[in-house]
Amino acid sequence: MSSSPAKFTLLAMGLAVILLTAKSQHGCNPTTKRDPQTLRHDKITVLINGYSESRIPLLLSIAATYSLSPLVSSVHVLWGNPSTPPPLLHQLAHNLSSVSTFLHPQRSTSLNARFLPRPADIVTDAVLICDDDVEVDAASLEFAFRVWESNRHRLVGLFARSHDWDLNRKEWIYTVHPDRYSIVLTKFMLLRSEYLYLYTCGGGARMAEMRRSVDLVRNCEDILMNFVVADLTNSGPILVGAKRVRDYGDARNEWESVGGVSVGLSSRKGEHRKRRGWCLREFHRVLGRMPLRYSYGKLVDSVGEQGLCHKGGKLVFCDQ
Ligand SMILES: *[C@@H]1O[C@H](CO)[C@@H](O)[C@H](O)[C@H]1NC(C)=O
Repeated sequence: MSSSPAKFTLLAMGLAVILLTAKSQHGCNPTTKRDPQTLRHDKITVLINGYSESRIPLLLSIAATYSLSPLVSSVHVLWGNPSTPPPLLHQLAHNLSSVSTFLHPQRSTSLNARFLPRPADIVTDAVLICDDDVEVDAASLEFAFRVWESNRHRLVGLFARSHDWDLNRKEWIYTVHPDRYSIVLTKFMLLRSEYLYLYTCGGGARMAEMRRSVDLVRNCEDILMNFVVADLTNSGPILVGAKRVRDYGDARNEWESVGGVSVGLSSRKGEHRKRRGWCLREFHRVLGRMPLRYSYGKLVDSVGEQGLCHKGGKLVFCDQ
């Protein structure tokens, strides 16, 4: 009997060690966190999510493009497919090898891993989260970074979507509006590294529950990041217009199957949208409020004026 309190103490200490280990594995340990004062403000750390082996040639080209940009401090490929054979990963690591490009095989497929704080690798304030199927030209990257520099607390992206309230069904839905948006996608998302801590380490039990939902549907990590930032700043994201962007499709749609059989593209898209709607409702339920805010318009890198000229008796744009 007398040994019980001691046993209990040991058990509690053991638990504390396990919890601490889990925290440091996620980069949440406050002692490993970088002092914000020491972060570089003039460069970007790029985190590219890779999953599909068939897209490796494209991934290599995208990683090379980013690593050549003078604005990029380092490029990290987060390989989220644990079933890729080690020899292939080895080749990939070899092919990626440049002074500033690194491969990180992930232990799980969790999309939350995209937002791990990674204090050993991220030495910049600006972090670019992007996919392995979106090619962005150097000028657009630079423009997006300039926009972010003067809006450091916002999310800056190239692809936008919306939440909306469905009056008939009386529920939140996921959609696209032509004139406004409240969500930028992780196809290309610029954010400050501090938000990685908020997403991974902050928010207590509610945030933990929402991160579990992301794992449950293997989707919606970007929606959750938009929730986190909108809730903190009470403002929506910023959409930037890119000059040349090639989007080779949405990685998530490819992995989706219904009842074990893969389904046609349009129904897959419908399924994707439904899942994202479910996430919106789930995050709203857990948080107890809807933090997403609409933004309007798109920032483009031109201040040229478009005049109207008389031509052949008609008013046309002068450059026509
Ligand atoms: C690596 O590069 C070699 C030579 O270009 C190529 O044959 C191979 O398919 C590449 N493998 C991977 C995984 O990138």
